[in-house]
Amino acid sequence: MRIDNSRARFLKKYEQRLKKVLIVGFAAGLLVCFLLNAVINRIRFGGIDKKYEAQITELTEKNEKLTSQIKSGSAGKKTDADAAASADELSSEKETWSLVLINEDHPLDTEYRPELEAVREGSFVDARIVEDAKKMLEDAEKEGLNMYIVSAHRDYESQREVFNTTMTQWISQGSTPLEAYEETKKSVAVPGTSEHASGLAMDITSGQYGELDEKQAETAEAKWLEENCWKYGFILRYPLDKSEITGIVFEPWHYRYVGKDAAKEIMEKDITLEEYLAQ
Ligand code: DAL
Ligand code: ZN
Repeated sequence: MRIDNSRARFLKKYEQRLKKVLIVGFAAGLLVCFLLNAVINRIRFGGIDKKYEAQITELTEKNEKLTSQIKSGSAGKKTDADAAASADELSSEKETWSLVLINEDHPLDTEYRPELEAVREGSFVDARIVEDAKKMLEDAEKEGLNMYIVSAHRDYESQREVFNTTMTQWISQGSTPLEAYEETKKSVAVPGTSEHASGLAMDITSGQYGELDEKQAETAEAKWLEENCWKYGFILRYPLDKSEITGIVFEPWHYRYVGKDAAKEIMEKDITLEEYLAQ
């Protein structure tokens, strides 16, 4: 009986100790895991922050520089006076108003706003080109085509939204902010340098195929536009294999009004607006 009692006490004590060891062990394990996780996170994410630090700084500086240049109208190679003259020329009655060059080196005053008129519901262009733009779309549709205007006039703020959205998409696909910026500006003009702000540009796709990609060029609508746009004073502004000159990838949907004489020559010679103006 005495032996049984002391054995039972021994077992109970042993059981309690075992419980204690298990509880303390479990808690210690949790603590180690937590600490280890914190250390790993610090190494991984701390490292990534450092890796991106220089690029983020570079991007921020670049953006700030560009923004101040655009604000003062002196981005790229143009002087303040040139930038102001471009805006004045666009709104003037000079013959050359429709030939104003707008690209990364030739920004447009962010305050510039043409007199707008609807070419279709919700799509606006410079009132001076609305008749030609409407006629081009009507004639195409008379031939059974389905023309869709994705975008026409876009002010500075809208351009910023498009630019930022595209940049965010690049980042979400794994690009660094700097890579995203460089990639974005190949297809979306840096805010303050887009022709869309002039009211002279329209993005037109097929109603059946609305993607803004190279396959757009294979649609009947894009083919018709490329062949006939000049008759209405428009040019295919960013042709295939001309990115070195325009700074923009092939955009079979982006049409720019330059006036009928210039459009005929540009499309016939298969040149860009940059090349035409440099002749
Ligand atoms: N997609 C053209 C280049 C623009 O954003 O103006
Ligand atoms: Zn466009």
